[in-house]
Amino acid sequence: WKATWISALLGVGYLGYSIYDESKPKANQVKHSELTPSGNKKKNLVILGSGWGSISLLKNLDTTLYNVTIISPRNYFLFTPLLPSVPTGTVDLKSIVEPVRTITRRSNGEVIYIEAEATSIDPATKTITYKHTKDHEGNPVDSRFETSISYDYLVVGVGAKVGTFGTPGVDKHACFLKEGYDSTKIRRKLLDCIEQANLLPEDDPERKRLLTTIVVGGGPTGVELAGELQDYVEQDLSRWVPTIAPQIKVTLLEAMPKILAMFDKTLIDYAAQILAESNIDLQTNTMVKKVDETNVYASVKQADGSSKMVTLPYGLLVWATGNATREVITDLFKKIPEQANARRGLLLDDYLKVQGSDDIYALGDCTFTKYAPTAQVAHQEGVYLAELFHNLAKVDELKFELSKSVLDTEKTNKLNRKLTRASKLEPFKYVHFGALAYIGSEKAIADLTWKDWQTFQSGGLFTYIFWKTAYVSMCLSVRNKVLVCVDWSKTAIFGRDTSN
Ligand code: FAD
Ligand code: NAI
Repeated sequence: WKATWISALLGVGYLGYSIYDESKPKANQVKHSELTPSGNKKKNLVILGSGWGSISLLKNLDTTLYNVTIISPRNYFLFTPLLPSVPTGTVDLKSIVEPVRTITRRSNGEVIYIEAEATSIDPATKTITYKHTKDHEGNPVDSRFETSISYDYLVVGVGAKVGTFGTPGVDKHACFLKEGYDSTKIRRKLLDCIEQANLLPEDDPERKRLLTTIVVGGGPTGVELAGELQDYVEQDLSRWVPTIAPQIKVTLLEAMPKILAMFDKTLIDYAAQILAESNIDLQTNTMVKKVDETNVYASVKQADGSSKMVTLPYGLLVWATGNATREVITDLFKKIPEQANARRGLLLDDYLKVQGSDDIYALGDCTFTKYAPTAQVAHQEGVYLAELFHNLAKVDELKFELSKSVLDTEKTNKLNRKLTRASKLEPFKYVHFGALAYIGSEKAIADLTWKDWQTFQSGGLFTYIFWKTAYVSMCLSVRNKVLVCVDWSKTAIFGRDTSN
């Protein structure tokens, strides 16, 4: 008992201290300045984006070494792995976001944050043009005020947008699951459909349509969302709207023969079995070709190799078919000859430098590398770039020292040796720890890797507990960790609510 009490007290003490430590701004933050303390010119480092890559860089960077400016239309970091849990209210959106300014005020050097979208990057003049383009619900705003900033070094971490592959009607009629406001839209639409259906007689086909949710894309985003939606129906709507819940149908459409392509085959089969057992209508070999206000039109591949067109009415449509390149990146392709063949993202060298440029680096989903576009990759790239920028600053400082005055041979040799050491940096090396996904019905799958060759696959309830533990530990701040645990406890005790 004594040990338990002592551990509990230590735990609470640690938590209290962490919260206090995270909430206080850094005292004596080094301000932006023209020169470093030694008199060298301080370089301007501009970072685009506030996602996994850019925030990982920012958190690991010694921000006193540069004048750091971060430009992003989203004034918070979003913990995307738990985003599929938000539309159903399993987790609250505010629990998985961390304001950029909370992060910047904890830096040891001043970091200026500008809430805007970079509209153009000009490598010739080393300038970024930016403006305010969207409100906080993602609606376009007509801002005529466009301005620019110059950089010595630029890090591009603008992520990707949802790929629609030009499928007609998707942009107009489908919801996405990429940003925080997307999850709010999905929730409102789902609850609106349920309330509208509630007004109609049971045999009305319009009622059936309204109660059908179609998720397009059997990647992890689509599967996790479908699983969460079905949990909501089974565990909560069945209690709050018992007459409607049995008629709510979640359909998952996938163009390929299998879902979750990046997982091991045994896990793919296990996930498909769990989806079927939980009444999710999984339709593989079904490629959506067109969408209108009430129907999805898809081509279904038959066993004999032929295709058949089907029409599927829906009330709520969520489109989750992977990534596409943002306009600011496709525009940059045209300005750097070495990027002329780039299509799916910026091409990089082994040090994450944009090919054909001396001062532009990039990371995360806006790049095209041999790695999958995941948070895990973007995070490790951010850590690597922080180290690279420490080295660059050191090299710069040593070169300045060498050029400053006439030094004796011994000092020059010493500085040269230091310079050689500082100039050496290993190329970026990604360490893959594996993949995790929630598949609904309180089950998850894990495809874990270590030492590049050993793998371990598991699925079920224990993997779900592991999934929860892993994701809480990965949350950005103690505040996020606490809030997510509180949300899960609230859901377990009181259930999810039906208010929008
Ligand atoms: P993002 O995190 O998308 O950040 C991009 C940033 O750039 C944003 O702040 C955005 O506002 C900003 N931006 C956009 N345009 C501009 C512009 N023009 N100028 C300036 N800033 C701009 N990966 C995993 O490894 N595990 C998971 O469990 C997982 N779950 C996911 C769940 C969902 C629902 C989604 C959508 C993705 C998930 N991912 C997961 C993938 C992961 O989120 C991405 O790979 C990761 O976010 C990429 O990081 P990033 O920094 O490149 O981009
Ligand atoms: P994805 O690219 O992984 O999957 C998209 C799926 O949509 C594919 O299976 C594709 O065949 C299908 N598709 C494409 N067009 C279609 C159409 N017209 N009709 C029907 N199906 C169509 O995309 P997702 O899930 O958005 O993931 C994006 C990235 O984020 C991936 O790299 C993924 O690994 C990562 N991610 C990881 C998660 C995790 O590890 N738990 C969770 C969510 C995303």
